[in-house]
Amino acid sequence: MTKRIIYPGTFDPVTNGHLDIVDRALDMFGSLEIAVGENPSKTTLFSQAERVALLADSLGDRKNIQIRQFSGLLVDYAGAHEHAILIRGLRAVSDFEYELQMAMMNRRLNPLVETIFLMPNYRHIFLSSSIIKDVARHKGDISPFVPEKVNQALRNKFQEGA
Ligand code: PNS
Repeated sequence: MTKRIIYPGTFDPVTNGHLDIVDRALDMFGSLEIAVGENPSKTTLFSQAERVALLADSLGDRKNIQIRQFSGLLVDYAGAHEHAILIRGLRAVSDFEYELQMAMMNRRLNPLVETIFLMPNYRHIFLSSSIIKDVARHKGDISPFVPEKVNQALRNKFQEGA
């Protein structure tokens, strides 16, 4: 049975930690759908279209990846009649409680949706989009942690005074 392999997230913006998870999922499954969410109650620095464009720019020559946008419930996006595997990155114990809640709720809402957690390389274990944005906002060097396009986009955003 063919299952959709979906890596959902906000990706505001994509980091090297996200790309590490993308590579691990590609190794395991051969293809991947990256689902970029829009949550009206969550303020993002980059618009959904910008987040998609930054992801597309950051994927380089990786093959067999589709980038899609979604809003509303992830399980609705995954589809009611289709088996799907959700990929989520797990960095530290602190991630676990929220991730467990989401996985359990998604499974309850749609039993055809399964969640798999992948751990990034230890070099990325401390990375989060929020911390990256904070460092960038204060003009710190984020170049080791994000793709070059994202580094430039963050610098531009904060020059604009975001
Ligand atoms: O990168 P993030 O911010 O950790 O991704 C969170 C995301 C987008 C995967 C999650 O907030 C989500 O699935 N949002 C869609 C709304 C939804 O389905 N909520 C119920 C989840 S149990």
